[in-house]
Amino acid sequence: MIHPDAPVTASSAAAEIVDEGAPITIGPSGTRLDEVVVLDYGGQYSQLIARRVRECGVFSELLPHHVGVEEVRRREPKGLILSGGPASVYAEGAPALERELLELGIPVLGICYGMQLVVLDQGGRVEGAEVGEYGRSTLTVTEPGRLLAGLPLEQPCWMSHRDTVFTAPPGFTALASSTVSPVAALEDRDRNIYGIQFHPEVVHTPFGQDILKTFLGEVCGCAMDWSAASIVEEQIARVREQVGPKKVICGLSGGVDSSVAALLVHRAIGDQLTCVFVDHGMMRKDEGAQVVKTFRDHFRVPLVAVDAEERFLAKLQGVSDPETKRKLIGTEFIRVFEEEAEKLAQGGEGAKFLVQGTLYSDVIESGGGTGTSTIKSHHNVGGLPEDIEFALVEPLRALFKDEVRAVGAELGLPERLVWRQPFPGPGLAIRVVGGEATKARLDLLRDADAILQEEIRSAGLYRELWQSFCVLPDVRTVGVQGDERTYGWVVVIRAVTSDDAMTADWARLPYDLLETIAARMIGELREVNRVVLDITSKPPGTIEWE
Ligand code: XMP
Repeated sequence: MIHPDAPVTASSAAAEIVDEGAPITIGPSGTRLDEVVVLDYGGQYSQLIARRVRECGVFSELLPHHVGVEEVRRREPKGLILSGGPASVYAEGAPALERELLELGIPVLGICYGMQLVVLDQGGRVEGAEVGEYGRSTLTVTEPGRLLAGLPLEQPCWMSHRDTVFTAPPGFTALASSTVSPVAALEDRDRNIYGIQFHPEVVHTPFGQDILKTFLGEVCGCAMDWSAASIVEEQIARVREQVGPKKVICGLSGGVDSSVAALLVHRAIGDQLTCVFVDHGMMRKDEGAQVVKTFRDHFRVPLVAVDAEERFLAKLQGVSDPETKRKLIGTEFIRVFEEEAEKLAQGGEGAKFLVQGTLYSDVIESGGGTGTSTIKSHHNVGGLPEDIEFALVEPLRALFKDEVRAVGAELGLPERLVWRQPFPGPGLAIRVVGGEATKARLDLLRDADAILQEEIRSAGLYRELWQSFCVLPDVRTVGVQGDERTYGWVVVIRAVTSDDAMTADWARLPYDLLETIAARMIGELREVNRVVLDITSKPPGTIEWE
């Protein structure tokens, strides 16, 4: 599905990019933070490795493998991890190991493909095995060495490889084998080079985190005191330095990214920041009021709240095509935002900086944190104009989503906002399906959605779901209520679990809960006489209906 408001991003040529994606290495007291670099050879779990390292209390960045030795050296990491990857080390064009990476004077841990690269380079034997080893396997430790010290001699581990290490290179000690791999872990203690064939970062390797801790603490000597919250102070200092006395504007959507970014910047520069919240009338029940209450009343953040419902409804009149809806909403959003920015500039100096809730995953997607900076394309605020002339302030660009939540909690953001499920920029308009998003239909959907959210929250399931919402198709069905025949609207319940929205599974909500929800919707909403459940996963379905 194309989301036309998604690509409305400022081109890097048009936007003056200030943050060059410099490594986050300065701690609150001006000290250097210990950092471990993960070089990404294309493995599906590479991001997860960086996250697990951070969970151990060590700041970690994921860089594409081709950044080169100098880039790694520049970051002065305390250790280096080489990730897994989909290629065979013998495949044409497969990423090779730059030998100098092993000569930086810092410990190196190769994982899966990363280990095979090391073995191949150092003169061991790697070959394509007859059978690959995929999924659960058993690791048998023959010599714990430094890396596996203190762990059970027999333990489950998760494998995903065809090439297999048959012999460790000279100078290396084989530490363990697995069901299929003669050498599943090895080390050269003197040169501080380590390798494991299995994936320590996935939950199916129960001692994986212990192995990472040993590598980070014992081997690399990292302090292990980093936390997402510890970067608050650092970012505050950085924002102050970046913007000086200038004015800053922030498009606030009420989503967790823009909320945390706004709060952090407000901590840094106080009333130099103005937030603009555009209520397009497609929000969920009471959402606008909640954002205003939280930011203006509670945090005392200068906030311009624009009630633009009528404008947006007028634009949507007679429109039923989903992509047209998105485009109209995206464009109108930009207009309102620009008008507000102009109003703020009248009679004084306009804002020079724009706060964006860019996350680390956006940075990785746009080039791996190697100096690239693009305006976030997932457009929580609905998309921004191409010729925008702001410099970007991106205080979250080093953080993963769960870390942003931790920072939000640290800054005192209410639990409800910290844990808010993702919500699409065009809002409820793309959930009024197959027809025009009129005020009446949006209100009905809003009421149904409020019942769903209330029940899911009180069942304690809200955080477990990636998204839960209602869809209102342009369909009426016959029912019987009391002694009367009815002809009412159908409400669809959509609830999914997911890690990243790329794939999703329909959530197995308890039947009793579903019954309560359906009974409430039909009882409390006069026009609704039927409730159905969407049991489509993604793929083949998408999460939204439009
Ligand atoms: P789909 O429906 O493509 O959605 O599986 C994946 C994720 O993207 C969200 N989504 C949008 N977000 N503007 C947005 O800001 C949009 O037009 C849009 N369409 C879908 C959706 O809610 C899910 O989280």
